[in-house]
Amino acid sequence: MNITRKTRLQGEITVPGDKSISHRAVMFGALSKGTTEVTNFLQGADCLSTIDCFRKLGVEIENTPEHILIHGKGLHGLSESKVQLDTGNSGTTTRLISGILAGQKFRTTLTGDASICKRPMGRIITPLTEMGADIKSMTGNGCAPLEINPSALHGIHYNSPVASAQVKSAILLAGLYADGVTKVTEPYLSRNHSEIMLNFFGANVTTENTTIAIEPEPVLEGRKVVVPGDISSAAYFIVAGLITPDSEILIKNVGINPTRDGIIQVCKAMGGNIEILNENDTNGEPTADILVKYSKLHGTTIEGAIIPTLIDELPIIAVLACFAEGTTVIKDAAELKVKESNRIDVMVNNLSLMKADITGTDDGMIIHGGKTLEAAVVESNLDHRIAMSFAIAGINAEGTTTILNSDCVNISYPTFYQDLEKLYS
Ligand code: S3P
Repeated sequence: MNITRKTRLQGEITVPGDKSISHRAVMFGALSKGTTEVTNFLQGADCLSTIDCFRKLGVEIENTPEHILIHGKGLHGLSESKVQLDTGNSGTTTRLISGILAGQKFRTTLTGDASICKRPMGRIITPLTEMGADIKSMTGNGCAPLEINPSALHGIHYNSPVASAQVKSAILLAGLYADGVTKVTEPYLSRNHSEIMLNFFGANVTTENTTIAIEPEPVLEGRKVVVPGDISSAAYFIVAGLITPDSEILIKNVGINPTRDGIIQVCKAMGGNIEILNENDTNGEPTADILVKYSKLHGTTIEGAIIPTLIDELPIIAVLACFAEGTTVIKDAAELKVKESNRIDVMVNNLSLMKADITGTDDGMIIHGGKTLEAAVVESNLDHRIAMSFAIAGINAEGTTTILNSDCVNISYPTFYQDLEKLYS
């Protein structure tokens, strides 16, 4: 993909459905009695991997342009897959389904692509094993492929060393099959879509500070789920609007759950002109339209409790920081190293090629903004969020930026480049 400088971006955009919520709607629908209808489902490769896995576990799922229909099997109705499950590039599918599979009365093996087979699964193997699960890394390196055998599960209280919604959700989902209450305490609260949606389907999940508790063996009932637009996809347009001179972009119907809205807080703290309009609620998830205008920005420090609320937005925030006067420091974000790519290394390498002043640290980045970016040839490393970040950087750089392996946007936003082009004026 080649990207050239644009003088301004103008218009209205509706981003696709939230990836985290789309995954969960399929998973919880599969474990419910009756039919779940999902509208505005994200038709990205990751969520299609989740559908594929549940079909292999015996769940009938209809996928039409209008909606997804999941004909649920109830908590104990999944059946053994004849083949190994393939979770593709999706960490959410891999980790959440492992929690569910730990509670089944049949054996499953699962694997994913080259990136998934390098990502840490010890973080779910440890707590699930503590619950009594029989789960192991088949290569013994703490990564997928994973083998999960039937075993009785017990309720535990797990103190998670990482603020990870995937870890938390895997434990809560195994907790559906445990012999007592299961609790997870996180260092900081991570995205709470599992808690909200499990309760919507009839489970009993409670939250006290950063401790989440779930009661076992609920009767889950099929629901109608309307998926809000993905704030992680909206983030590219938020930043594009703020840094591209003379721009004004209205992003419609975006999920603004406070466990996900760190990008808005950071942009405002940097002086960004952002308005939140038409606030609403769908199935317990807050939504709004977001209006962004080109702004004079200044650097900031991003650290601590806000990190999990913007973890997927840190690559585009690094781009944003290049256009802010002064220094931006990102700390406490070592998790970036174990995402679809090592996002600290990849952002530092690529932005350095564009002549940004950026240094990687053990747990983040330091960016001295205000320097003009120059076009370069950058590698996405097959990471969707890297490709999208460099499209926005490219629009604001001198020359033609080439993004290699740019098709990986299919993971979370198949129509990203077309939607972006609609804003060129
Ligand atoms: C996700 C949780 C986050 C996030 C990922 C989606 C989820 O991962 O980075 O894109 O849907 O639960 P971690 O739980 O590893 O932080």
